[in-house]
Amino acid sequence: MAKVITVTNQKGGVGKTTTSVNLAFYLAKAGKKTLLVDFDPQGNASSGLGVKEKDVAKTISAVVLGDAELKDIIVQPAKKKCKNLYLAPTNVELADSEVNMNAEESPDKFFILKKAIATVAKDYDFIVIDSQPSLSLLTVNSMAAANYLLLPVQTEYYALEGVAELLRTVNDIKKGINPKLKLLGVLATMYDKRTSLSSQVLAEVKRYFKDKVFEVTIPRNVRLAEAPSHGVAIGQYDRFSKGAKAYKSLADEVLERVK
Ligand SMILES: Nc1ncnc2c1ncn2[C@@H]1O[C@H](COP(=O)(O)OP(=O)(O)O)[C@@H](O)[C@H]1O
Ligand SMILES: [Mg+2]
Repeated sequence: MAKVITVTNQKGGVGKTTTSVNLAFYLAKAGKKTLLVDFDPQGNASSGLGVKEKDVAKTISAVVLGDAELKDIIVQPAKKKCKNLYLAPTNVELADSEVNMNAEESPDKFFILKKAIATVAKDYDFIVIDSQPSLSLLTVNSMAAANYLLLPVQTEYYALEGVAELLRTVNDIKKGINPKLKLLGVLATMYDKRTSLSSQVLAEVKRYFKDKVFEVTIPRNVRLAEAPSHGVAIGQYDRFSKGAKAYKSLADEVLERVK
């Protein structure tokens, strides 16, 4: 049965998609059959793996609307295949689908993604969900579907801004719709060891989250920003880069933590 990890933070630009794509890639490389679910209508995880809207007949929005089965929309990354890596692509229609999801009887509307994932969970070792930068119904669905949350925080100003609100939401979700939800870990992203700011912020994040913080930090690395425009994961673009090494270490830590 797949372990489901949702990568979440309601702030944009903190490295959620970069983390989702590259964690999924290195879990796959470690021999784990992995499904990356792109659950942000912006579709950056899909395009980052070279899967464009025009290449796919149906996306996750058809699944949440009940017009397709999850297994029927799953594809393999287009530019360079990776044996164990699969993708459930999305597009902007997911934003419209959310309106229809809201019309569903409460509380069913929180479990639409969870129900879809349950239909394929036995076929994968890991399912990684990339979520939207907001505390929307889509995001709540992605938390309801998860066993674990992975929280990337950018080691720059205001790293912890919004975190209290996020944790309140997570607590509400644990009290109600997903009591077993666990925080897998907090990941420091875009870390620049040359600046004192980065290390100050990391220290602050460690004070707050203690041993929940992953040992590995993700460095600011231009190769990580370039890879998506080539439609491949960092390990397929420049596997010797600092970014690649860091995300490989993250996958190792994740494998250790879910044991
Ligand atoms: N460690 C990093 N080093 C350099 N650029 C990064 C790094 N992580 C992410 N980026 C870039 O920063 C931007 C935001 O990252 P992204 O993963 O899309 O964040 P989010 O999904 O949280 O909005 C993207 O352009 C991405 O390529
Ligand atoms: Mg994103």
